Amino acid sequence: MSMAMLFLLSLVLASSAPRLAVVEALVVDGLKMGFYNRTCPEAEQVIRNVVQTEVGMDRTIAPGLIRIFFHDCFITGCDASILLDESPSGDVPEKESSANGFTLHGLRTIDVAKSTIEAMCPRTVSCSDILSFAARDAAVAAGLPSYEVAGGRRDGVHSRMDDLPGNFPVPGHTVPRLTELFQSRGLSQEDLVTLSGAHSIGGAHCFMFSNRIYGFSKTSEIDPSLDPAYAERLRKICPRPRPDDDPEAAPKVDFDERTGQKLDNSYYQELLARRSLLTSDNTLAMDPQTRPLVEQYAKDDALFQKRFGEAMQKVSALDVIIQKTKGQIRRDCRMVNKARGIRWMPMLHFPKPPKHPMLQMINWFIRGFQRD
Ligand code: HEM
Repeated sequence: MSMAMLFLLSLVLASSAPRLAVVEALVVDGLKMGFYNRTCPEAEQVIRNVVQTEVGMDRTIAPGLIRIFFHDCFITGCDASILLDESPSGDVPEKESSANGFTLHGLRTIDVAKSTIEAMCPRTVSCSDILSFAARDAAVAAGLPSYEVAGGRRDGVHSRMDDLPGNFPVPGHTVPRLTELFQSRGLSQEDLVTLSGAHSIGGAHCFMFSNRIYGFSKTSEIDPSLDPAYAERLRKICPRPRPDDDPEAAPKVDFDERTGQKLDNSYYQELLARRSLLTSDNTLAMDPQTRPLVEQYAKDDALFQKRFGEAMQKVSALDVIIQKTKGQIRRDCRMVNKARGIRWMPMLHFPKPPKHPMLQMINWFIRGFQRD
């Protein structure tokens, strides 16, 4: 190669180097900041407006959206599989798992965002991206400083309730099992402590923690790791469980008694004061491995809020579908698109017997409260 050619080549490389660096900084696991800048520039703003409006009318939508997002990404990645009402394979969908079911809150907000966006930019913005943006906007509406969310996820076409058992954290788990589960999804123990801070907003139904306040053990009616005055307050709100209770009618208690609508570090202060609802929360303050970080967050709200945003970014990149040949951009977040050119064959559907609410509860007691 002549000297002139080498000189030209070095000029080209030098001029392209900074551009490459910028592109690299914007790409996260195949996802891209500003992914819809050209194809649907208003998308992120529209989602933000929808979330702000809905949360403005009902504050409980914010925790609901963050939870749907986490439950979606933890099982088979951020593919909006949790939003499907039915799976084409005929499997019972994730939505019907006892970890989801009627306790999922905020699904309608995603429907509103999707239909608004579909009217503007048909078949362009995936449900999984909408959910990731909406979870960020919900966190911001609850007081978290904003963080960037990359786009480019495609929607999955499968959803199976059976993917949850054994792969999903339940209220009775303690640090070793929680750590194991988080690590199996590429999340660290620090992420576990940080993301559990989502329980700074929203709440839990009494049956999720009634084992701690009624008949806890042979020697103690109440979990001795609970502040006794707090346990008494919980018993006033949550009556002793009875076999004919309707879980959907169970009272719901705020995780954080003091600032239950603000995504802040008071959750960690409450943990240290032995005021927590779930065993899986309490264990973070009890276990010597996680307690130091709980103590650090309890003292430093800014640190918690910064790390929470970063951990949510990490969750939003879990097992995303980005190849054009895989997944799809759903038109309706509740169902996969029908194959093009194929008229939808009327399927023979044998309706599943409705699940009695009591069966759901039994399911929780068997799977949910078992200890490792
Ligand atoms: C570490 C293991 C975890 C367990 C065992 C767990 C379990 C639960 C349970 C049982 C509820 C109460 C549901 C109800 O009764 O309606 C709940 C609520 C909630 N969870 Fe978790 N969770 C965990 C981690 C997380 C993470 C990592 C996030 C998000 C990043 C999260 C976000 C939420 C939110 C925001 C609520 C309140 C929902 C509402 O009020 O509508 N959780 N969780």
